[in-house]
Order: sequence, then structure tokens, then C-alpha cells
Amino acid sequence: MLKAVAFQRRAFSMPATLRPTPSTSSTRQPIFSAEQKASSSPAHFYQNRTLDYYVEQRVTPITLRQLVFFGKRLNDERLIKSANYVRNELPVRLAHRIRDFQQLPFIVGSNPHIQLVYDLYWAAFEKFRKVPLIETKQQNQEYCDLLRTLLRDHLVVIPQLALGISECAQHIPAVHANHFMNTMLRSRISRRVITEQHLALSESSQDVDNDDAVVGTIFTKCNPTNIIEKCIALIETRLSGTEKCPPFNIDGSTGCGDFTYISEHIEYIVFQLLSNSVRHTLQFHKNNIAPPPVNITICSNDTDILIRISDQGGGMSPEAYRDLWSFTSQRRFKAFETIPQMAARIAEEEEIPWSWQGQEDQHLGIGLPMSKVYSEYWGGELKVMSMEGFGTEAYIRIPRLGNQTENIDFEEADEV
Ligand code: COI
Repeated sequence: MLKAVAFQRRAFSMPATLRPTPSTSSTRQPIFSAEQKASSSPAHFYQNRTLDYYVEQRVTPITLRQLVFFGKRLNDERLIKSANYVRNELPVRLAHRIRDFQQLPFIVGSNPHIQLVYDLYWAAFEKFRKVPLIETKQQNQEYCDLLRTLLRDHLVVIPQLALGISECAQHIPAVHANHFMNTMLRSRISRRVITEQHLALSESSQDVDNDDAVVGTIFTKCNPTNIIEKCIALIETRLSGTEKCPPFNIDGSTGCGDFTYISEHIEYIVFQLLSNSVRHTLQFHKNNIAPPPVNITICSNDTDILIRISDQGGGMSPEAYRDLWSFTSQRRFKAFETIPQMAARIAEEEEIPWSWQGQEDQHLGIGLPMSKVYSEYWGGELKVMSMEGFGTEAYIRIPRLGNQTENIDFEEADEV
């Protein structure tokens, strides 16, 4: 459908090596070559043949359980194996998404925000595909340095994409725009998960006081009450001195057992939902000295952890409810003078300047659709119900067994 007007395979000028770089140690080059530094050029016509090679390859999705099992018995050999898994996966995972960009309608692909991310992806793809086979810890260290740099460089990806897609909303059916965004976000999470896991394993292999409950980025003793309390503390800290904060009540199975998860993923979701509840409660009860509480209920069964967040923030109109998961909703976007950064993790949130005042202007307002992507990433879900004039309830389901593969549906995405 979208392919008819694609800006695919434009005839740019750069002569390029047409074959993918072979991955053998005999062809080892420094990771940061001059050629790679120049790779953000938009000259991709010939490079597309290289891209085809990677797009034809399937990704190898993993489960949380596999990551834990692998990381628990870490030794040098396994660390190198992890490095090469990431080295193989990243260019393939990126190549599929670069192809998605090429299949956008021309007018959308030409948007400066979209173009910026496209260029970033190409530059990263070029660097990743040229990394030779990793055989030693020293080579792994160099690879980790490259990963760290690119993780930082890509912090702008989500705001740029969200702004670009919203600016082009009239040129692309909403269903396609939202599918594109969801696919981009899932894929980005997937690349960051495997990258951050490898970085954490590489760092922990030098750490003598290794904590058994932590396997790379995965926490085997996640506790919903602790996560909720951590998010509440962050919100209260941020509000202190500026506004009154509604009280929080936590009830249900507050003592329910630990489970294995990337706790930052749950923190992201809970933080976004609680922040929304607090913001709406404060707005809806702006004349009340004592705003009503935000109630959080925890429950668990053999397979899932369930969290319900209920507020009395006035709920939302049918129009707002209809657009709840949309990345193209015009109600979310204003003109930004500077592009905000958007945290993908709660640790990143802490680095970004923030305030409730003027939040509409500073924030992209896509925390909710992002939270849905995070919830579904390991097979969970997020549902929201609204009672207009009273409040909103959000339900999060988080699988606790860690046996679901990453939700990255490349095949479905490639067919749109
Ligand atoms: C991203 O954050 O968009 C990525 O692709 C991560 C990767 C550069 C390691």
C-alpha cells in the first residue's frame, strides 16, 4: 500500500562497496575508521544492495529466561559469545527498520525529523555491519565503547520520530503511522535490550562483588510494591516545593513474591501512568486543598502480576479516549522551539530537566502509547478505562515467568 509512493532507493551519488563486509578476524579494521565517521551521508543508493543482504536475514529473538540463564554462568567464552550475538543481531534489526523508512510515502520520508533518524540509523548500521568478529576481551571493550556512544547518540530518536510523524499526519493514514511508530519503538527497545544486557554483562564480568539478584540488566527479585514506591518517591521529589501531591494508597497483594524482569521496563510504565494520574488529579481538583488519592492495587497469579492504578482526575472525553494510543494525535503536539529529549528508562528520566509547569510544552505526550509498547514487549498488556467526569483506571499485566519471546513481529511489519 505505502510502497507506491515510497522514497525508496533514491539515486544518491556515493560510490560504495556493494558487498557486506565479511566477518572474519583476518579483515579486522579499527572500529572508528574515517570512512565510518563519514557514514551519516544520505548517499544510500548503492548501499541499498548491502541493506538487502541484511533485510533478508531473520532476527533471533530471545526470552528473559534465556538471557538470565546465559548471563548467570558467565565466563570469558560466554561473554565473547554474547558480544557476537549482539554484533550479528544489531545490523539485521536495524536494516529491517531502515527498509521501513524507505517504504514511507516520499513526503513523510522527507520530513527533517524523520530524515534525521533515518540518517542516524544508516550511520549506525554502517558502523555495526563493519565490526569484525570479536575474539578477545580487548576487542569486546572496543565494541562496548562503540555501543555506549551510539546508545547516547540515539536518545533523540523517539522525540524526533514522534514529531516527524505528527507533522506528517495529513500525508499518511493514521493506522499506518501508528503501525510504523509501534514497529520502530518495539525494534528500538529490542536493540537497546540486547545492547544494554551485553554492556552490563561486560561490566559485571569485571566486578568482583557481583550481586546474584542482578543478571546484567535483569533483576531476578523484582517486587511490584518496591517498584511502585520507587516511582512514587520520584514523583514526590519532583513535585516537592512546587505543588501539593495527591496521596497514594497501595493495597492488594502488596507482599506478592518476587519475579524476574527488566525492572526498568515496569518502572517506565508505572511512572508514566502515575504521572498522568497525578497531573490530571491536580488539574481536575485545582481548587481543592486536599486532592483525592491515587489508588494502586496489586494482584498476582501463577503466570502474571497485575497492577491497577485508579485516579479521580476527571477521566477523558470520548475524543481523547479514541486517540489514547495514537502517535499522530494533533492534540498532543505543539510547536517545539527545541526538541526535547525523551527518556526510555527511568534512569534517563532523572537526567532530563523536568517540571509539572509548562509540561504540555516540554513533553511529547507519548508516554502512554510508549508504555503500551513496553507492556506488550515481553507479552504483557496495558488497558485504560475512563469515566468522563470522574476518573481513569489503568490495568497493567506483566507476565512473571519470563518465557515469552520479545514482541518484535518483523514479518508483520515488513508486509505493511
Ligand atoms: C536506538 O536506541 O535507537 C538503537 O538503535 C540502539 C543502538 C544504537 C544500540
